[in-house]
Amino acid sequence: MKRTLNIFCQILLAMAKHPRLFAKAMAAVPSMGAAYAFSRAYRDSVPEASSSVSESKNPLMEYFQNHQKGPGLWKWEHYFEIYHRHLSKFVGRKVDVLEIGIYSGGSLEMWRNYFGEKCHIYGVDIQGACKTYENDHVSVFIGDQADKAFWSTFRKSVPGIDVLIDDGGHTPEQQQITLEEMLRHLRPGGVYICEDVHGVFNRFAAYATGLVSELNSIAFAPGSVYQSKATQYQSAIHSIHFYPYLVVIEKRLVSLPVLSAPKHGTEWQPFL
Ligand SMILES: C[S@@+](CC[C@H](N)C(=O)[O-])C[C@H]1O[C@@H](n2cnc3c(N)ncnc32)[C@H](O)[C@@H]1O
Repeated sequence: MKRTLNIFCQILLAMAKHPRLFAKAMAAVPSMGAAYAFSRAYRDSVPEASSSVSESKNPLMEYFQNHQKGPGLWKWEHYFEIYHRHLSKFVGRKVDVLEIGIYSGGSLEMWRNYFGEKCHIYGVDIQGACKTYENDHVSVFIGDQADKAFWSTFRKSVPGIDVLIDDGGHTPEQQQITLEEMLRHLRPGGVYICEDVHGVFNRFAAYATGLVSELNSIAFAPGSVYQSKATQYQSAIHSIHFYPYLVVIEKRLVSLPVLSAPKHGTEWQPFL
């Protein structure tokens, strides 16, 4: 009951704060419902894994499978293919990697093994016991990811991050605050991964859908219907990817000042 009341208050607050945006979001609700109904009823088939259709070799998956002893490592198995897809470009390079959520230290070792000896790993956890995983290649910060002051101190100590993996407390509030405090701190070309976005109509997934919306923002430059000046956000954020329980955000390596759609060719149909 308390939770329902809280949600209701948040809705009223959002309506009062951003009435036009709220109306737009409300107009999108039937489409979201239709998409959910479509996906629930979806029937399709793709081949099962076999020797002819197999996933390509994945060093992270191999590491996980071979890691039977030592510091505990706890991941959903399907994450490894996604990590490798977005993170392989950093392997062997001088990169700064931050993982929120250390638990038993196994993932910090895995990242070091994957990215190589030029990388530096930063770990954040709310539990002081995790300080034990600190060494020459791994720096550990103890704090609450939902605490903005903690991130302010963190940013002063760590000048930049190339990869951020949020595997901390997993509440939508913690995930949102971490993103709002740290996305700007990610270097150009950086990759932001938020893990364990569980459940239908998860509130962090809804938040990330809002981030997607702004990627589609369009404002035609005067005198041209084929050009839209990129917002600072569009200029910095390359893409947002949704996977089961994961959201991945990639930053641009170089800015995108304008989105343009020029026509090339001399022969055109008359209807457009
Ligand atoms: C799922 S475990 C991390 C697993 C680890 N990354 C791995 O792959 O084995 C989650 C960790 O997040 C930490 N945590 C929970 N709430 C947190 C918060 N508010 N801020 C920072 N860390 C938090 C917990 O103490 C725990 O160690």
